[in-house]
Formats: sequence, structure tokens, C-alpha cells
Amino acid sequence: MSPSAPTLPAAAPSRARRALAASCLLAALALPGLPRPAAAAEEVPFITTPDHVTLAMLELAGLRAGEHLIDLGSGDGRIVITAARRFGASGLGVELDPALVQRSRAAAQAAGVQARTEFREQDLFATDLARAQVITMYLLPAVNLQLRPRLLALAPGTRIVSHDWDLGDWAPERTLTLDVPDKAIGLEKRSRVHLWVVPARVDGRWCGPAGTLTVTQRFQAFSATYEAAGLPAPLGVHDGRILGTRLSAVQPATGSTLELEAGRDTLTVRRALGGGTPATGAVFQRAGPQGCPADPPARP
Ligand SMILES: C[S@@+](CC[C@H](N)C(=O)[O-])C[C@H]1O[C@@H](n2cnc3c(N)ncnc32)[C@H](O)[C@@H]1O
Repeated sequence: MSPSAPTLPAAAPSRARRALAASCLLAALALPGLPRPAAAAEEVPFITTPDHVTLAMLELAGLRAGEHLIDLGSGDGRIVITAARRFGASGLGVELDPALVQRSRAAAQAAGVQARTEFREQDLFATDLARAQVITMYLLPAVNLQLRPRLLALAPGTRIVSHDWDLGDWAPERTLTLDVPDKAIGLEKRSRVHLWVVPARVDGRWCGPAGTLTVTQRFQAFSATYEAAGLPAPLGVHDGRILGTRLSAVQPATGSTLELEAGRDTLTVRRALGGGTPATGAVFQRAGPQGCPADPPARP
């Protein structure tokens, strides 16, 4: 789909509002990564994402018809409305300001997408995010960090796109920079949009038909050590990346590769090449408290 530019009205923040926005943003910038109280969320000012940045966010997310998007702090509703009108998605916008919620509903009606959009006057921290395939946000760095544990707990493969602010040391998969000549805040007349894909949670030990796999994970990075039963030393340490439920890794020294698919409690080997890897098709189960069946019995 090739969406054309939407025609939602641009917001014209008042001078006072811009000053508040700038001071909030600068305050947040001065305290990178510091935890802030929940009240920090209420400091997020209303500033609209320009229409070309909205389109770039939704394209970066790879939003498809029939998918569900949630915009956290939905302002005048433009991201949700564009998602419905141009991409064929359904969407929910949650917003604290009742006047903006009303404005969003009216704009959705005018755009003819009221059946696929919903706007709630609701705190984003009290919103159930489980239904979304895509989450969008234009908040503040400290608020993003407060949200991060909830985002990481979403279904693997959920895409998250943030305007300008990142998620601390959870590195994005991709970042785009766009020119925004009339940007209301900041000296740099540019916006950044970042994409993350929630990784499957694979940390731990896994039991396979002919050995065990031990995985250590940090966000979408992982390393895996395969120990084949009956052999004294581990056969391979692979460093790799997780994209949703897909894990892929290469052993730099030998060039052997390993590709895995994460299920709820399984890891299936989709492809294994080279030495030190389990067999293609092997299915690993998450180890229980007793370890793996092939483990030597504990010494008395
Ligand atoms: C920077 S604006 C972004 C608006 C819209 N998402 C966009 O990109 O055009 C942030 C919005 O979040 C809203 N907001 C702030 N804290 C919130 C919270 N805890 N729950 C819901 N909305 C919140 C603000 O009222 C504001 O409208």
C-alpha cells in the first residue's frame, strides 16, 4: 500500500504550551535514564506528530490491514486515524485530555473511520496493550523507560514505534531521521523515529533430544551454548539476534550458523549449519526445576 498524505489539521501549540513543552523536554533530557515518579506522565505536553512523520512511523512499523494499533497519548487522534484510513488497520487512542478525546472522535467520524477507531479518556499506564500488533508513542524519555517493562512483556513480534525518544539501552532495530522544518520544539529541525520488535523470552536452559542449549539474553541479543550429551565440552557458542520469535546466530570462529523458532515453551531448530550445532528440526523444551532428562543424576 502506498499511503498518500493525510489532511488532518495541524495543531498550532500556543506560545505558553510550546514553552512548557520545551521545558519538559529539556528537563527530561537533563536527566537521561533516571527513574521518575508516575506523575511524570502527566507532564507530557500535547505536541502533534507531523503528518509525514506519522506516515513514516506507520510504514516503519510495517502496519498491515486488519492489524490493531494503540497510540499511547493519542493527542488529536491523527496516528490512529491515519492507521485506519491509509493502512486499513483498527486503532485505539488513549489520552488524558477529554477535549482532545472529543476532537479525535469528531475527526475519526469526519474521516469515515469511526467503526475501526476508538478513543478513550484513559491513562496510558492503565491501558491493556495485549491486543496491539503495533504500539506508537510520542512521549518523553523517562515515560518511555517507565513503560519499557510492560512493552517487553508483550507478545513476541509486537512492533513499537516511538517519535524522537528511545527506550534507553534497549537498542532499536531501526531509526529514521526526517526533516521537520517547522518543528515546534528543539533546535534541531528534525524528528527521529525508532522501531523495536518485542523479542521472545528465551533466557535459560533448554532440553533437546541429543543435548542441551543454554541461552543468555539481553533484549534482542542472545548467545547460546550447545552441549551434546556424552561429550565433555560445550560444542558451540553462538552470538545472535532475536527478531520476534526468530533467533539467528553465527559462530564467528567457525562460521557455523543456527536459526531457531521460539514457541511458548519450545525452541525449534529451523536451520543448523556447521559443527557444534544441534540437528535441524530438533525441538528443545524449557528445562524444569529438575533440569533436563539427559542430565547426570545429582550426587547424593
Ligand atoms: C506529544 S503528544 C503526542 C500526541 C500524538 N500521539 C501525536 O503523536 O500526534 C502526547 C500526548 O500524551 C498525552 N498524555 C500524557 N500523559 C498521558 C497519560 N498518562 N495517559 C494518556 N495520555 C497522556 C498528552 O495529553 C498529549 O496529548
